[in-house]
Amino acid sequence: MNLILLGPPGAGKGTQAKRLQDRYGIAQISTGDMLRAEVAAGTPVGREAKAVMEAGQLVSDDIIVRMLASRVEQPDCAKGFILDGFPRTVPQAQALDTMLAAKALKLSAVIELKVDDSALVDRIAGRFTCGSCGEGYHDSFKPTAKAGVCDACGGTTFTRRADDNRETVSARLDAYHRQTAPILPHYAALGVLHTVDGMADIDVVSAQIDSVLARVG
Ligand code: AP5
Ligand code: MG
Ligand code: ZN
Repeated sequence: MNLILLGPPGAGKGTQAKRLQDRYGIAQISTGDMLRAEVAAGTPVGREAKAVMEAGQLVSDDIIVRMLASRVEQPDCAKGFILDGFPRTVPQAQALDTMLAAKALKLSAVIELKVDDSALVDRIAGRFTCGSCGEGYHDSFKPTAKAGVCDACGGTTFTRRADDNRETVSARLDAYHRQTAPILPHYAALGVLHTVDGMADIDVVSAQIDSVLARVG
């Protein structure tokens, strides 16, 4: 099964992609996580991406497409993948079409998480992640069961993203509306676009996605 999760910053792509990965045994591919790893490692790609990401703008299609092409070759993608945060521009969507055709792969579904812009800033401002295992949390919507301790691994260090501040979020939202939303009609025309209500509770969103996937097989 090959899926795309589409939606604005804070829509819940990462949250839902992790659940789909566990449930269906397919790989989560987050271009944002890959870029953050490059930044942390200080690679040439990371050095180029850092300022762009902190400004809330999109990294060049060229870098992203090259990164993704080698990622889908990894063995954990054998049963399929969930693209989280890719494609984000019309040229990226075109590059993906070419890549899939060359591998004789089909897109099972494109899931759009629809969330009001006004909810996104609160979601992003409250987000934090376990520094040991990467589990995602939220100060109000998904706190740890025990304060300061990760539910998943017992870790006690947590991180917040450099681009998770109010100014950068509005630039990221703007990039979504200007550059990413225009790819939706492409997938609607292919008959693979499914929109779910991303404003619902996390479990309800998961259930909506599961029912879409049960229909598409
Ligand atoms: P990326 O890492 O992809 O960030 P993003 O798209 O801005 O999305 P987020 O990761 O912020 O949100 P999410 O939808 O994953 O939400 P989450 O599940 O965490 O990209 C970062 C940057 O990298 C970009 O700005 C760009 O510079 C660059 N980049 C990446 N890919 C690129 C590409 N293809 N091309 C060019 N540049 C690229 O949820 C958010 C919070 O809300 C969490 O705290 C969560 O617990 C909570 N939450 C989730 N669901 C719910 C719910 N239903 N109800 C209540 N709370 C919820
Ligand atoms: Mg994410
Ligand atoms: Zn953890």
